[in-house]
Amino acid sequence: MKGIVLAGGSGSRLYPMTAAVTKQLLPIYDKPMIYYPVATLMLAGIRDILLISTPRDLERYVDLLGDGSRWGLSISYAEQKRPEGIAQAFRIGRTFLGNEPAALILGDNLFFGSGLSQRLAQASTLTDGAHIFACRVDDPQRYGVVELDADQRPLSIVEKPRHPASNWAVTGLYFYDRHVVDIAADLKPSARGELEITDLNAHYLKAGTLTVERLGRGFAWLDTGTPETLMAATQFVCALETRQGIKIACLEEIALAQGFIGSDSFARVAAAAPVSAYGRYLKSLLADLEIDARPVPLRVAGAVS
Ligand code: DAU
Repeated sequence: MKGIVLAGGSGSRLYPMTAAVTKQLLPIYDKPMIYYPVATLMLAGIRDILLISTPRDLERYVDLLGDGSRWGLSISYAEQKRPEGIAQAFRIGRTFLGNEPAALILGDNLFFGSGLSQRLAQASTLTDGAHIFACRVDDPQRYGVVELDADQRPLSIVEKPRHPASNWAVTGLYFYDRHVVDIAADLKPSARGELEITDLNAHYLKAGTLTVERLGRGFAWLDTGTPETLMAATQFVCALETRQGIKIACLEEIALAQGFIGSDSFARVAAAAPVSAYGRYLKSLLADLEIDARPVPLRVAGAVS
């Protein structure tokens, strides 16, 4: 399965923070926001990634992530000339995806939870239909909302409903079969002029091939669209990392644990890391690795994103 990170948009709700810096490069505590969705795809076992952003911002992502080989990834880049909807990612990514199933993650979505890696790995085995995740929220009007029957089967899916049928918001992480590019090619813009991801999901729902997985109490799903939610995400990551001595979305650690890079490559990257809290963390993992001589450092067990 291949992965797409959609990191465009104007970030207008975060102005003036986003006047000169693209939103998905703003920090969430100790690392750029984009690290978190990239980590999520890596935990799903995805190594071939297309990053889509605006013509203005794309170069900044190249500066930060390069070709991804540091983490055993292959990262390529494409422009979204205008923000014409999330489902446009599959029109832009058509050649990249070829005939393969795809995972799409929004560049401002952050997931964390015990057992998340296993769920993501399972989702990435999808070959037929679509699989999405839903989280309970207090303000469903702000999201795509899914209504489920007693057996967790989806009954309806609606974008930003005025009268939500449930409190289950659709998160910004989607898994699709290889037909997604054709379905996206046939979508019509909504009343607000966007190619809606919810319309794409509704297509699979109508075909009876949409499955929805609820992320319950053990999971955190944070989006970072406003100053308040940006701050909440930073406080969340800071609290967990300082209390537990772990890092969330440490790409080098995940790459090693997933077997995307070997311990030699990890050692090189860790040894060269600048002196920062992140750099010190890599060096401490390296020390663990040298003591334990184990292929996977312990701290990543029960993984994180
Ligand atoms: O976060 C989950 C929600 O994301 C879902 O529940 C909704 O169904 C889905 O429509 C979306 O809602 P948002 O209101 O968050 O969408 P927004 O337009 O803010 O876009 C989400 C991110 O995607 C944002 O960081 C900007 C980026 N984006 C968006 C559009 C429309 C692009 O890069 N290009 C685009 O064309």
